This record gives sequence, C-alpha cells and structure tokens, in this order.
Amino acid sequence: MTISLLGIIVIQSRWINYSINLNEDKFREEVYSALNHVEKDLRASESTLDLDVLGHDFASGYSANSKLDFYYRKGGLSDSTNIANDIANLMSKSRSRFQQNISLLEGLEVSKLLQSKDLAERIDIKRLSNSIKRQLNKRGIFIGYNYGVYSNKSKSFVIIDDNFVVAEEGTQYTNTPINKSLYNSLYKISLFETDEEVPGMLYINFPHRNSILFKDVWPTILGSVLFTAIILFCFAYTIYVILRQKKLSEMRTDFINNMTHEFKTPIATINLAADSITSPMIVDQPSKVGRFAQIIKQENSRMLNQVEKVLQMALLEKKDFKLRKAPINVHDIIMQAVENANLQVEKKGGHVTAELKATRPTIVADQTHITNIIHNLLDNANKYSPEKPEIKVITESINGSMRIIIRDKGIGMTNDQRKHIFDKFYRVHTGNLHDVKGFGLGLSYVKTMVGAHKGNIEVISELGEGSSFILDLPVDGGQEKSENGVT
Ligand SMILES: Nc1ncnc2c1ncn2[C@@H]1O[C@H](COP(=O)(O)OP(=O)(O)OP(=O)(O)O)[C@@H](O)[C@H]1O
Ligand SMILES: [Mg+2]
Repeated sequence: MTISLLGIIVIQSRWINYSINLNEDKFREEVYSALNHVEKDLRASESTLDLDVLGHDFASGYSANSKLDFYYRKGGLSDSTNIANDIANLMSKSRSRFQQNISLLEGLEVSKLLQSKDLAERIDIKRLSNSIKRQLNKRGIFIGYNYGVYSNKSKSFVIIDDNFVVAEEGTQYTNTPINKSLYNSLYKISLFETDEEVPGMLYINFPHRNSILFKDVWPTILGSVLFTAIILFCFAYTIYVILRQKKLSEMRTDFINNMTHEFKTPIATINLAADSITSPMIVDQPSKVGRFAQIIKQENSRMLNQVEKVLQMALLEKKDFKLRKAPINVHDIIMQAVENANLQVEKKGGHVTAELKATRPTIVADQTHITNIIHNLLDNANKYSPEKPEIKVITESINGSMRIIIRDKGIGMTNDQRKHIFDKFYRVHTGNLHDVKGFGLGLSYVKTMVGAHKGNIEVISELGEGSSFILDLPVDGGQEKSENGVT
C-alpha cells in the first residue's frame, strides 16, 4: 500500500510537472512569436523614419513637375511641339532624379548611415511600446511585463519600460534589480538582425509568469493534493486501527491467560482439599474435614470474587449499573480498608498509615463502590511495591470536595505507562515482577466509578520512586441525591 501510494504521488507530480513544462513551451512560443513581430515592426518603423530624413531629395526630384505646372499657368508657350519637348524634358529629369534617390536608398550608404547611429536613436519608443503590447495581447498574454533594449556597444540598457536610460560612466547592466531581472530574462531577441553587426537585444521579463504557467494546473494540483491527503489520512487511520486492534487483542490474550492462571490455583487447591476429605485417613477426623471444607469455601469465594470482578466490568462497559448514594463517612471506610490491607502489607514487612485530615469526612456516595475503589488502590499500592511497602493514605477537604491521596514508594511508572493504566486490560509488563497477578481491570473500574460520582482521579508517578493516586470526590455526591442510573 505504501509503495502504491508513493507511486501515485510520484506519477501525479510528474504529470503536473509535464503540464507545467507544456504550458511553459507554449508561453515561450507565443512570446517569441510576439518578439519577432515587434522586431519586424521596429525595422519597418525605422525605414519610414529614414524616408522622412531623405524626404527633401524626393521633393527636389518632383519639383520638375511644378515647373510644368508653371508653364501651363503662364500661358506663354507658343506651340504644341515646344510644350511636348518641355514635358519630355522635365519628365526625364524628374525620373532620373527619382531613380537616383531610390538607388541611394537601396545603396549601402544609407544603411551604413543608419547603422552608425546610436541604438536608442534608431528606436521610436512609443511605437516599440505599442508594438510589444499589441503583439502580446494578440496572443492572449495580458500579464505585467518589463522590457528593455540592451545595447551591445555600451553594454548597458538604453531603454527600459518606455524610458531612455542614460548609463553613468562605468556602471554595469546589473546595478539595479530591474536591470538584473531583465538581463536574466529567458525571453530576448536580437534587434536589427540585418545589420552587419547586431547592435543590441530586446529583453522582456514577466515577473508574474508563474500565474500563467500554473493557470490550468492549479485545479489539478489542488485536486491531487486533496485526494492524496484523503488517501494518506485513510491509510494512517487504517494503520492506527490495525495497531490498536492488535494491542487490544494482545491485551485480551493476556487477560485470558491471567484469568486461567487465577482460576487454576483455587481449582487445584479445591481439588487437593476434596481429595483429602475423601481420603479414608481424614474422613474420620471431623476437625481436619472441617479445615479442608474451610479451605474449599475460601478458595471458592476467591473464585467467586474474580468472576464477580469480570462480570462487574462487563456491566460497567454497558453502563448498566445503579448507584445507591447515601451519606457515608469516608474515614470509617478508609480505616477499615487500611486495617485489611495491613494484614497483607505487614507480611512483606511494610505498613500502611493513615493521615486523615479532612474536616468533612462525610460525603454522599455509594458505599460499596467507594469501598471497592479504596481497596483497589490499596491493593495496587501493595502489589506494585515489591519490598517493604510504605503506603500512606491522606485525606483533605478542598472546596466542596474530599481529596483522598494514596501514596506508595513502589516501582512507579513511566509517563507513557501512566497514560494507559486506566485502560481496560492494560497491565504494565513488569519484567521481574511476573508473579504480580491481575486482570488489568482494577483501575478501569476505579475510573468509571469515580466518573459516575462526578469525581476526578489523577496520578503522579516516577519510575522507581513510587506513585500517588489523587482522588477527588464531591461532598454532595455530584448534586444527584436520588438513585440514578449512569448514562
Ligand atoms: N501503585 C502503582 N504503582 C505502580 N504501577 C501501578 C500502580 N497501580 C497500578 N499500576 C499499573 O497499572 C496497571 C493497571 O492496574 P489495574 O489495577 O487496572 O490492574 P491490575 O492491578 O494489574 O489488575 P487487577 O486490579 O484487575 O487485579 C497495573 O498492571 C500496573 O502495571
Ligand atoms: Mg489492580
């Protein structure tokens, strides 16, 4: 999929590039065609200029005709032969003078005369400017441009954008940005190419050339980017979902393994106890039978607890539970829980202490769930403190709510782990603490229940240093005094 996506992106960008190149070629063709016409126009305009210069010669050639006119008007001509002779005479004079002028025009002397002039003098700026505009517009090019006439002789621009430029002594063509961009322009043409030595070039630069090159390509580019982004997004989302599913499936497998393990021990113990009871040596000893029956009962209730936990989680998932809220004294619950926890913790050489500072220990809440929450947190604090657990329970009254802090000096966790501990089935891979059992359901239950009580739970933890679970519960039970289902 990645390869095909990359393939699509490469093909799209090549195609867009190809379109831009095509537009560029077309644009260049149009500009050069326009420049060719401008150059021709310039030459043509120069010819008429020259004819004007040489106008007086023509005038003298034709003045013979006025002489004829004079004869007519004078009325002094005696006979028709004289008139005819005069006419012939004058006509031949006039023709020869005219031919002289024509040959002069065609002759090298004239063109040499013109070529010796400065390039700027040979160009009619207004005509040049009009010609460029007309030729470009004719080809559908209406974007802004700069033009300049560059003299090969002075090695500088002599005309820029309808103005003559007087180059200072020693200055170069690149001394201003406009000269520079003009000089580097892609579009230029030699002027007066028919001269012996080309006198200069006409440069034209389009600062907004890209707007034309990209004009037809924009919709394609936008479309490509949009659709590629959509495909990329879908691709990324699919990968994300796959990874999440994979993680979830791993977590479920872990859960099943844990559960099997958790059930295997009591089942094995019950099996052993049952075997013992039925053994002939024991059957007759009621006290031993009683002890084994007790073990069976204990293990059975342990299994029941586990099953209860899983079932409860399923109910929580469906949000199919009801809170039986009533005013309860949290300090009493904590004291009871601390006492129970101490039985376990003291076996490991540690202890649980309580620092109950809350001034209003009574809150409106569901007693069973609050007891479970505290048990779960204490159980974790003990489980994840491998040596001599030192657990502290602190309570405080804060702005209409009661704060319960359960602090341990256990293994702690990383920031990344901390973000996931409230996820269902999530368990940190404890490495050397493989014997620590659990389903990864405890904190998920705690979070759901705290939420149902409109409370809040946060964790501060540092790997190797310990963790603090900070629990805030509203004193008034989240303003819900009645028995409410949680939606
Ligand atoms: N006090 C703590 N210190 C360090 N890690 C903790 C602590 N409490 C929880 N954790 C981490 O968070 C994970 C999730 O805890 P949670 O209580 O949900 O599951 P569990 O204790 O593994 O199993 P269960 O509570 O369902 O028997 C734990 O596996 C553990 O890695
Ligand atoms: Mg737990």
